[in-house]
Amino acid sequence: MKVSIVGSGKVGVATALFLIEKKVADIVLIDIVKDWAEGNALDIIQASPIRRYDVDIKGYSDIKEVEGSDVVVITAGKPRLPGMSREDLLKDNAKIIRAVSEDIAKYAPNAIIIMVTNPLDIMAYLTLKVTGFALRRVIGMAGILDSTRFRYFIASELGISPKNVTALVLGGHGDLMVPLPRYSTVHGIPISYLLPRETTEKLIERTRKGGGEIVGYLKTGSAYWSTGSSVAEMVECIIRDRKRIIPCSAYLRGEYGIDGLFVGVPIKIGRNGVEDIIELSLNTDEKKALHTSAERVREVIERLEAENLI
Ligand code: LAC
Repeated sequence: MKVSIVGSGKVGVATALFLIEKKVADIVLIDIVKDWAEGNALDIIQASPIRRYDVDIKGYSDIKEVEGSDVVVITAGKPRLPGMSREDLLKDNAKIIRAVSEDIAKYAPNAIIIMVTNPLDIMAYLTLKVTGFALRRVIGMAGILDSTRFRYFIASELGISPKNVTALVLGGHGDLMVPLPRYSTVHGIPISYLLPRETTEKLIERTRKGGGEIVGYLKTGSAYWSTGSSVAEMVECIIRDRKRIIPCSAYLRGEYGIDGLFVGVPIKIGRNGVEDIIELSLNTDEKKALHTSAERVREVIERLEAENLI
C-alpha cells in the first residue's frame, strides 16, 4: 500500500510520523520546497532500527511521485496565523489546491483523497469538482480532530483517562462547529450525568476555539500533532479497511437536510472511503446549529464561485 502526503510542512511531517508508527503503508512525502521532503523522510527512516519500521518513507519535490497511491493526503497550503479565521486562507489555498488536485487526478486516479488544508470543507469541495472523483473518495479531516479535542477536555475536567471518553462534533470545521454533548459519554455514561451544564458549555466553547487556541500559542502556524494523529487514524482506517465510525467531512446529498456540501457527520470509513453516512436523530437546537454551520460553508463556496476560483 502506498500513501502520499502532499505538503510537508508541520502537519504533513507529523502525519508521516504518526503514520509510519502504524507500519501500514509505504509513505511518500512531497513538498514544493526542494530537498525539504527528502530531508524529512531521510531523518524519519533513519530512526527505523530503533522504532522498528519495516515500511519505507521517501521524500520528493515532484508531485508526480504520488503515482499509484492508494491514499493521498493533502496538507499543502498556508496555515492560519493569530487573528485569522480558517476562511481567511480561502483565496491563497484555493489556487494551490486546484493545481494539486489536477495532478492527483492525473497521477493517482484511483486514490482516496483526505483533505486537510483549510478551510477544509471548502477545499474538499474544490478537489471533488476538479478531480471528478466519486463522492465517497474525497473526505475532509476535521470531525475526528474536533472530537478528540472535546474528548480530551472532558477527560481533563473529570480527571479521568481520555481513553474512556467518546464525543461527537459535527458541522463545518470552523467556529460554528457543533459539539454534541448528548452523544458524548464516559464509557457509555452520558456526560450530562457527570458534568454540570455550565461546565459542558465551557468545554464546548473551548472545543470550538481549540484550533485557534493553539495558533495563539504557536503564532507562526496551526496545530500539527493532534492534526497529524487524526489524519494518520483516518489513513489507517482506509488502508486496513477498519470500518470505524468517526466524524469526517463528507459530501452530503440530502442527509441531515443538507445537499451538495461537505459537512462534518459520522461516517463509516473503510477501504472504499466514505462507506456510509450515519444519520443521527437531532433535536431542534442541534439541527439548527448544524444548518447554521452548513450555511456558512455554502456562503464561502459562493464566494469562491464569485471569484471564479472553483
Ligand atoms: C486546527 C486546524 C488544523 O483545527 O484547522 O487546528
